[in-house]
Order: sequence, then structure tokens, then C-alpha cells
Amino acid sequence: MSASEIAAQANVSAANVKGGSSAGGKILVTGSAGFIGSALALRLLERGDTVIGIDNHNDYYDPALKETRLARHADHPHYTHLRIDLADRQAIENAFATYQPQRVVNLAAQAGVRYSIENPLAYIDSNIVGFAQILEGCRHNGVEHLVYASSSSVYGANTTMPFSVHHNVDHPLSLYAASKKANELMAHTYSHLYNLPTTGLRFFTVYGPWGRPDMALFKFTQAILAGEKIQVFNYGKHRRDFTYIDDIVEGVIRVLDQSAQSNPHWNGASPDPGTSTAPWRVYNIGNNSPVELMDYIAAIEKALGRKSEMELLPLQPGDVPDTYADVTDLVEQFGYKPATPVEQGVANFVAWYRGYYKG
Ligand SMILES: NC(=O)c1ccc[n+]([C@@H]2O[C@H](COP(=O)([O-])OP(=O)(O)OC[C@H]3O[C@@H](n4cnc5c(N)ncnc54)[C@H](O)[C@@H]3O)[C@@H](O)[C@H]2O)c1
Repeated sequence: MSASEIAAQANVSAANVKGGSSAGGKILVTGSAGFIGSALALRLLERGDTVIGIDNHNDYYDPALKETRLARHADHPHYTHLRIDLADRQAIENAFATYQPQRVVNLAAQAGVRYSIENPLAYIDSNIVGFAQILEGCRHNGVEHLVYASSSSVYGANTTMPFSVHHNVDHPLSLYAASKKANELMAHTYSHLYNLPTTGLRFFTVYGPWGRPDMALFKFTQAILAGEKIQVFNYGKHRRDFTYIDDIVEGVIRVLDQSAQSNPHWNGASPDPGTSTAPWRVYNIGNNSPVELMDYIAAIEKALGRKSEMELLPLQPGDVPDTYADVTDLVEQFGYKPATPVEQGVANFVAWYRGYYKG
């Protein structure tokens, strides 16, 4: 497909994207004790939505952190928490039937690239079987819009930067990435067959207060404070589009409020991978300014006021050296681009970490 064809197919103008609904709705958020899900639930409640949260509180990382995140909004009068598993068909059917959400944000998943190499079946249960239950719930209960977490890892072996949703992504390097790409494909069939509007968001390394203990920022901060060496993979040459949690939440809400639209210019003879004749879209949501791991570490050192001791190691299996997002579609259609500088975001994380673990 030529560049102009891609541009024509992708050019679903802002006018073409329906207003959708905004605050005051009933929204199901899965993964609501997780890093991104709890932050999203909090913001939706603050703006006046009713939120039904689902989380199984698994022990992939410290469940106490999940409980404490949840405690920020668990007692809100417009919040209901369901401690159930996405893959539990009956429980998910009951949740949809009982609460009849208008819109759904699916963030529950088995996350992490490295863990998928040791424990691949956890990804099938939560990310494939679980996501299928969510699609079925949406289909049978007239859900207006399903937004779900995809990942920058779907770009796998692609090397053309910045990564664009209009490039093919058919070479995942981990089962985690394959499960996220599978979610995009599964969503497409539901958008096509049942006219369910679905939007996939490819997140690029999300960080910030209340973050995940398995991610680099958390591990580095913990190790530097304990005077331990930090393991720096790929000799620190990775470049990542680190995206601050508040920017992600803002992006998810803007997208959630506008149901996915079909692209009337889509052409099956030269198919654009990022749009469809069905009401199905995928977007990158990243900072659009890659930061080298060494600079990220320097920001952590600065915020902590301490130097790290590094153990430089090669690239890990399943990891990709660079991820850098083309966010043009997000900017054009939602007037929005993540913008928090890494120094600021890291300083906010370190302040939170010190407060949280001071005991
Ligand atoms: N944080 C990132 O940098 C990043 C990057 C790309 C994609 N994502 C995706 O964004 C989403 C949210 O990520 P996060 O960083 O908040 O992760 P997280 O692990 O903190 O949150 C996920 C939550 O889902 C819950 N969960 C997992 N499997 C479940 C199941 N089967 N049933 C019910 N609940 C279940 C977990 O208990 C957890 O609280 C995930 O889908 C993840 O793959 C995150």
C-alpha cells in the first residue's frame, strides 16, 4: 500500500468520530486493583461516573499493594468491587447481567514480558479466555464501547520507527505480545459480526506513583535505596517511550468517551492494519519522545539523591531494544498527546515510593 493510500484510509477526520458519551455513565473497569485500572477508576469516580471494578487480586506481585491502591476508591458510594476472575465464565456473565455497564475498559491481564517466558499458560487464561468472556459480555448486554489494553510489545520484530498502527504487526517475540495482538484480532471479529465498537490502546511503558513492582522504575528505586546493584539489560541502550500514568488515564478517558467508528475509506485490496469497515480502532498511546534507559536511570538517581551501582547485561529474550510511538492518530482525533517529562514523572514516583514504604 502506498503512503498516500495509507494516509487516505487512516484519515477518519475528527468530524467522523461521533461524540459518544462522557461523564455520568456506568462503566465496568477490569483490573481495577491494578496500576492503571485503579488510577482510571479513581478518575472516573471523581468526574461523576458509576464504576464497577473487577479484579482477582492475583499474587503475580504483592497483593497488599493492590489492596492499598483499591482502598483509595473502594468506599466511594458509586463504586462496586467484584473480586472475580475474567476467565470465570459464570461470574463474568453474572456481572454483566447484574450491573449492565454502558461502557467497558478491559485492563485486567497477565502483564509482563519476562514472566510469559516462564509461565505462558497464565497468559492464555487471563488474556485469551478472559478477554473472550469480556467480548461475550459486551455482545450480549448491548455495551456501547469496549476499550481494552493492548501493548507496544505487539510491534515485536518490527524495526521501522516510530511504530505506527498502520504497519503490520505479525511478528510478536513473546506470548504476552501474541496475546495482545490476539485481543486486537478477537475484538475485530466482534466489531465486524456484532457491530460492537471496540478500541485497542497500545500502551508504551507506563510508569508513575502506585506503579508495578515488576517494572524497572520500581526495581531500580528499591535496589538503589537498599545499596544493591541494579541489573541493566541491553547495556542500558534500550530506548523507551516512558508514559506517565496521568497521561495514560487522560488518554483512556478521551478515547472511552468517543465510540470507535468505522473507516469508510478502508479498502480490502490494500488493507490498512489500523482501521476497518467495522467500528474497530487501535491507537498508540505513548510519549512520542524516546528516552534511553541510562537517562531514565539518571533521572531516578537525581530524584533519590544517590548514585546507582550497575550490572550491565545483554538484551533479555523476548525483549525489544527500542519502542517509540507514532501518536499522530491520537493527536488528530482526540486533540491529545501525553506530555509529562520523565524527570517530573520519575520525581513523582520517588516521592510516592518514599511515602508508601517509609514504615
Ligand atoms: N504498565 C505498562 O507499562 C503496560 C504496558 C503495556 C500494556 N499494559 C497493559 O495494561 C493493562 C494494565 O496494566 P497494569 O500495569 O495496570 O498491570 P497490573 O498487573 O497492575 O494490573 C492488572 C490487574 O488485573 C488483575 N488481573 C490479572 N488477571 C486477572 C484475571 N484473570 N481476572 C481478574 N483480574 C485479573 C491483576 O490482579 C491486576 O490487579 C494490562 O492489560 C497490561 O498488559 C501495561
